Amino acid sequence: MDYKRPQFFRVMQYAQRADRDVVDMVSGNPDWEPPQALREGLRAYADSNPEQFQYPASVGLRELREEIATRRGVDIERVIITNGTGEANHLAMAESLDRKGSEILLVDPVYPYYAGRVQMLDAEMDFVPVGEDGQLDAADVRAQMGDDTAAVVVNSPNNPLGVTYDADTIHELVSVAEAHDAMLISDEVYDHFDYSGRFESALAVDSPNRIVTNSFSKSMAITGFRVGYAVFPHPDGPNGDLMDGARSRHMLTNVTSSRPAQAAVLNALRETGPEYYEQNRDMLRDRIETFTTALDAAGAAYTEPEGAFYVMAQFPDFDGTMANVERLIDEAGVAGMPGEAFGEARSDWFRFALVTPEVEEAADRLAAFFE
Ligand SMILES: Cc1ncc(COP(=O)(O)O)c(C=O)c1O
Repeated sequence: MDYKRPQFFRVMQYAQRADRDVVDMVSGNPDWEPPQALREGLRAYADSNPEQFQYPASVGLRELREEIATRRGVDIERVIITNGTGEANHLAMAESLDRKGSEILLVDPVYPYYAGRVQMLDAEMDFVPVGEDGQLDAADVRAQMGDDTAAVVVNSPNNPLGVTYDADTIHELVSVAEAHDAMLISDEVYDHFDYSGRFESALAVDSPNRIVTNSFSKSMAITGFRVGYAVFPHPDGPNGDLMDGARSRHMLTNVTSSRPAQAAVLNALRETGPEYYEQNRDMLRDRIETFTTALDAAGAAYTEPEGAFYVMAQFPDFDGTMANVERLIDEAGVAGMPGEAFGEARSDWFRFALVTPEVEEAADRLAAFFE
C-alpha cells in the first residue's frame, strides 16, 4: 500500500464536495478551547520587542526545554523542541535508521503517517498485529524483531484504536528493544487523554534504547501551532549520537521552530492547572458514551476507547472501504476514515474522530442509517 499519499485528504475533499451537510469525524483537530494562558501568552508576545521575533536557539527556547525537562524528570540536554510530534517522530525514525538496521517495526492498525514516513525514508517496514481487544502483546513484538530492526514505533494512548498500554507492556517493550539493540520510539501525543488511569510513559523506564515523542497539539488543542518535542538518550551517554544527529537534521531542515508559538506554550504550561485537562477529558468521556451507545444500537463492534479521541467500529455487512466511506457521507451525512487507511488488521472497520460538538447528531445519523 502507498502510504506516502495520505487517504485523509481524499476523504476530506469528498466530504467538502458533498451535496448535504456532513458531520466531520475525519481529522484529529480538537474543537475545544486552548488554555486561557495560551491566548494571553500569544497576545503578550505580539507586543514584545523585535529582538524576540528573531531565530530562537535551533533546539528550542531554553525556558521551554527546561519546563519540559522538569515536568518529564529528564536532563534538559535530552530535550529538543520540534514542529510537532510529526517532526519528533521523523527525527527519531531517521536517526534510528542511521544508527543501525534497515527496518522499522510498526503496529497494525497503524497511524498512517508512520508508514508513510518509513516509505519516504526508503526503509522496510513490518507490522505486528494487535489482539482482538486492540492491545499490543510485547511477546508478539519480540517474535518479529530481527537483526535489521532499527526501531519499533508504538503509540499509547492509541490512534486509531483508543487503547492505552499498561505499565507491563511499556516496560517489556523497552526490554525487547534493549535485547535486540534497537530503539523503542514511544509516541505519547495523547498522554493527557487517558481515561483508564493505566497510561505509563516510556520515560518511566530508564534506558538508552528509548525515544519519547510528544507535543502540545492535542493536550492544548493547538494543532496549528506546531510545538512538540522529543526526549532522546543523553548526548553524553550510550546512543548519545542520536541526539547530535537529531539536532543537525532539525537545523538543516527547519533551521528552528516557531518562537511565538513556543513562547505561548511556555506561558500556558506555567499557568494552566490540571482542571483544564480534566475538563476536556470529561467532555470526551461524554462523547464516547454517546457515540458508543449509538454504535450498540447500530449493531456495530468497536473497541471501548480508554484513551485518545477516536473510535474504530465495524458494522455488519458494511466494510470500511473508501466506497462505503463515500456512501456514509452521501447517505448518512457522517464522514469517517476507511479502516484500510490504517493497515490490514482492521481494514473492514471505520475510524471516527470525536472532535466535533455534533457527536450526538452523528451518532443518531449512524444509528438511523444502520437500522
Ligand atoms: C499518533 C499521532 N502521532 C502524531 C500526530 C501528529 O501530531 P502533531 O500535531 O504533534 O505533529 C498525530 C496527529 O493526529 C497522531 O495521531
